[in-house]
Parts: sequence; structure tokens; C-alpha cells
Amino acid sequence: MAQESFLRPVMPDVLEQWRYYIDHLHLQPDDLVLDVGCNCGDADQFITSLHPEIRQIIGLDHSPVRLERANKRWGENSKIQFVEGDATQLPFSDHTFDKVLCVDTLEWVKPPEAGLREIFRVLKPGGIALIIHTDFDSQIFSGKMIQLTRKIVHAFSDSGAYGTIGRDLKGLCHRSGFSDVVTDVYTLTNQFFKEDHYAKKIAEMMGDWLKQKSLITEDEWNDWIDDLEEQSRRGEFFYSVNRYLCICSK
Ligand SMILES: C[S@@+](CC[C@H](N)C(=O)[O-])C[C@H]1O[C@@H](n2cnc3c(N)ncnc32)[C@H](O)[C@@H]1O
Repeated sequence: MAQESFLRPVMPDVLEQWRYYIDHLHLQPDDLVLDVGCNCGDADQFITSLHPEIRQIIGLDHSPVRLERANKRWGENSKIQFVEGDATQLPFSDHTFDKVLCVDTLEWVKPPEAGLREIFRVLKPGGIALIIHTDFDSQIFSGKMIQLTRKIVHAFSDSGAYGTIGRDLKGLCHRSGFSDVVTDVYTLTNQFFKEDHYAKKIAEMMGDWLKQKSLITEDEWNDWIDDLEEQSRRGEFFYSVNRYLCICSK
């Protein structure tokens, strides 16, 4: 969440995070790659810019609106193909892909195991599936308003689709057919609360979400943001969030 679009404009912190993710795919010349839940395709574009030697990356999403945006942005890149489909019924034969990527998507897939079983099915023997999810309960915002911060972080995590899926990811992968699962954690950090940085983008997204659900008031929201901005002006702001990685071999 809040990171799907990171190339236009460039979000340097999210770009750095994706470099870390992509290294774990161990991409090889001629690899055929699937990205489940590709959204506007920024990750696919970034992967082909770093690894032009791969055969192709297929970005799959169930949202025609998101795919239209992806095609508008990156449709001219011959290394990428965008395909409409559901993660629980992938429109591909068994053992098709060398690598499969699925980032911050499984919380929306019902049940997540159905998506993971499909990823297992379409992955070639010897292939790697890189399954990554944020655990939204892991967010830390510095500031004076500790109780309000807890309220906001917990309300967001608990009112989402499956805000704590990050901590369950290894078990979900294991139960879905992957017996060889190596885990890792990427911690994204921000030192300032400012535009084009993840902390500000996710804070704004959380605010819209929680106000719409009447889980916080406008006044609470404004007080919280004022405090974060003040921290940032003083050079004392700090944010972190954990992304949980499962590197699954078949
Ligand atoms: C939070 S975005 C993550 C996008 C991207 N992977 C990233 O990390 O930046 C989740 C994406 O998954 C897609 N999605 C959700 N459920 C899906 C499903 N059952 N099948 C295919 N795509 C799905 C949504 O349309 C959305 O584009």
C-alpha cells in the first residue's frame, strides 16, 4: 500500500526497497517472470530496466482500471505484457515461469492460500517465488503523541483486509505447497516527513481510510500530522515499517 506508484514521481526510499527485493529473484538471462498484483506496473518497468536480459515479465492484475494505467505508462516496453486475471485462477499452464513475484497483494486475495497454491502451480521446478508483504502493525512514527500514534496504526492495521499478514506469510507459504521457504525482513526508514517519501504517503492514505470509516476525527488527524511535521522540522522525525519476505523455492 502507498508504494505502488514509485517511478513517477520517483520515491527514492521505495526505489531502494525494490532494488533489495529484486536482488532476491536472482534473475537470469531468458527468465520468464510473473508479477501477481502488478497494479500500475512500476515494479515491472523497474525490473526490466535493471535486467534487460530477461525474456519477459508478465504483470497480472484483476483490475482493468489499473491495467489500463499500466499500459498507458509502460505499454511500449516490449519486455512487459499486462494480463487481466485473478490470483486464485491464474490463466497459465503448470510450470510456466522461472520466477514469480507477489508483493503486498495477498491480503486482498481470498483466501491467500488459493493465490499461493496457484503461484506454486505455475512456477517451474527449480524456480523461485518471492512473496512479500508489509505488516502494517509494524509501523513506527516518532512523535509526542504516542497514544494517538498507536490508535492510528492499530486502527489502520485492524480495519484493512489483513493488516498483520506479514507475520503469517511464512505459514501461509508453507501450507500452500512450498516446503523450502527462507524468510527475510526489509525495514524501510524515513528521517523526514516530506513529499515523495513513503511515511508521508502512507500517513495520508491512513488518514483518508480512517476518516472515511469514522475511526479517527479530523481534529485528531490534524494534531497528529502537525506533530509529525514539527518533528521533521526539528530534524527529529523517524519512521520505519517492516516488509516480510518469503523466498520460496520449488
Ligand atoms: C496494494 S497493490 C500492490 C501492487 C504492487 N504489487 C506493489 O507492491 O506495488 C495490490 C494489487 O493487487 C491487485 N489484486 C488484489 N486482489 C487481486 C486478485 N485476487 N487477483 C489479481 N490481482 C489482485 C489490486 O488490484 C492491486 O493492484
